[in-house]
Amino acid sequence: MDFLEWARSPWGQNVPIHIAWFLIWVAVISGLLFFIVHATYLRYFAKPRQFASSSSTLIAASIPEHVPRHSLAARLFHWIMAASMFILLFTAFLPRVGIRFDWVTYHWIAGTVLTLSILFHIVHASFFLDFWAIWPDRIDMRDARRRILRAIGKDAPAPDKFAKYPLENKLYHGAILITGLSAIGTGVFMMFRVRTIFFPRNPYLFSDMTWGLMYVLHGLAGVGLIGLIMVHVYFGLRPEKRPITKSMIFGWMSRDFYLEEHDPRRWPVERPPTSSASADSEPQGVRDAG
Ligand code: HEM
Repeated sequence: MDFLEWARSPWGQNVPIHIAWFLIWVAVISGLLFFIVHATYLRYFAKPRQFASSSSTLIAASIPEHVPRHSLAARLFHWIMAASMFILLFTAFLPRVGIRFDWVTYHWIAGTVLTLSILFHIVHASFFLDFWAIWPDRIDMRDARRRILRAIGKDAPAPDKFAKYPLENKLYHGAILITGLSAIGTGVFMMFRVRTIFFPRNPYLFSDMTWGLMYVLHGLAGVGLIGLIMVHVYFGLRPEKRPITKSMIFGWMSRDFYLEEHDPRRWPVERPPTSSASADSEPQGVRDAG
């Protein structure tokens, strides 16, 4: 069983040309298995979640009914990225499983949209959002250990409530960052192999071996994204995660959900700036935006 497909170059060298397409099915079946194992674990084995209690009544009383979570720009980015990702996945993989159509043009157009949306996201997240909110911190690591110990029946203090993003979401973001950037980095060069509106076609830009490895990396990132996106959609649809999904549509989550899962000290509620309110007079857990 070979994970790659090979061909002989005009110079007699054996070069990889792309991944073996059965890997598509490996990714789909792994995604389905994950659903089954995770849903069974939650239904029959997982203990109810417990957090160290964090917020005082004073803080709880100061939390608005709708807690702002994603700005309009962040939501538009998310849905544009999601639409382009789905178009990329379907245009890339449907032809490999027997549904033939002229996929390349749709694919590079969706690839361009994804690339531009990610460039926007990098600038937006670095300069206009809280850049560090999505990276694991020391409390996440300490709490991951506590959660594992408690899950296997050992004695450990209850973990804190989450900051804006739970550790799982932060790890997922890291995985999608690596696979997404691999698909984009290779995809931009692969546009030299096809006709686009951006630059003249130049299949001689790299050697056969370099092109082959680039196609392999693109394909591996692609099948990785099948699994990652299946898992993402599964969590987005799970009943207990629906408030988070709704916040990606409407921009806010309810006070009850916020207080149940999030620690106002780790993720203070942002209020629009007002001329009279002073940050010093706000209880801890609420801060002025901007
Ligand atoms: C979800 C993300 C993506 C997936 C799943 C994906 C998947 C694929 C797959 C499986 C192929 C066939 C490769 C082969 O024959 O070995 C392909 C080709 C291609 N991809 Fe992507 N891709 C993605 C993102 C992108 C992006 C972001 C771009 C451009 C910026 C891009 C540009 C291309 C081009 C130009 C080809 C055609 C190459 C050719 O036919 O010679 N892709 N993609």
